[in-house]
Amino acid sequence: MKRPHWRPWLRQRLRRLFRRSQHAARPQDTINFVAEAKPGPLVTDLFAGVKTIPGWFTYDDCVHFHLVLNMQSFLGVGGDMLEIGSYHGRSTACMAAYLQPEERLVVCDAFTQPTEDAYHDKPSPEHLQRNLLFVNPQLDEAQVEVRVGLSRDLQLGEAQFRFIHIDGGHSQEEALADLHLCAAHLAPQGVMVMDDYENKYWPGVSAAVDVFLAGNRDFVILADLNRHGAIGRKIYLVRKVSVRGIDLTAGCAGILTSENRL
Ligand SMILES: C[S@@+](CC[C@H](N)C(=O)[O-])C[C@H]1O[C@@H](n2cnc3c(N)ncnc32)[C@H](O)[C@@H]1O
Repeated sequence: MKRPHWRPWLRQRLRRLFRRSQHAARPQDTINFVAEAKPGPLVTDLFAGVKTIPGWFTYDDCVHFHLVLNMQSFLGVGGDMLEIGSYHGRSTACMAAYLQPEERLVVCDAFTQPTEDAYHDKPSPEHLQRNLLFVNPQLDEAQVEVRVGLSRDLQLGEAQFRFIHIDGGHSQEEALADLHLCAAHLAPQGVMVMDDYENKYWPGVSAAVDVFLAGNRDFVILADLNRHGAIGRKIYLVRKVSVRGIDLTAGCAGILTSENRL
């Protein structure tokens, strides 16, 4: 019997549709090197482990974190790290890989507690720790401090962090409160990263970043980065810095324009 001519067309459409939804949910699939490229250790070691953990942290994020965190260590910028919103630990595992022996990583997540944003598979703190150790078998567990609860209740005392990743509540109110909290605990030459800027599904994040930058003129954008496989961008913020009396960020003004980039 002759097959209807529309069947291959339908099969192809369905396959494409399926691939697209997979692609959106699995950012790790977006590594697409040319055939001759030989993957280096970031791909074969670190990201090979990171990508097995559910989450939205992409290979591009891994590259960006790698450069910032290694460059900080190289320049002698020490200090702890903080993450708000770890989920199963995909981004956390990447951060943990760059901990120096004296440093600790503080992680705040609501875990199974109710949040404004809905997640269908909330992990436990033990589950997070297991994932971190899977990616970083050499990790000293004592270096990771897990705080269970909402970030609005997070008490950080005198702590100062060299690197902060904010990826918790995505409403404007929550994102702005997280930005203020993190800014108050950012070490000199520290970098704080906000996820999901310009993600049309989370407009509150962009609004929070804009409001924060308008009210905190001592902060500038170190980098504003798209990532393959992600809708929103990650914004890397730093405090203005003077070297030998020269403000390296002089002339940086306005919000999210080419003028306030380093
Ligand atoms: C987008 S996920 C984090 C993804 C992770 N950073 C990654 O890259 O895979 C957000 C996480 O933040 C948590 N969360 C949401 N609202 C929060 C809040 N107000 N305080 C603390 N954690 C929150 C959620 O439970 C969830 O685990």
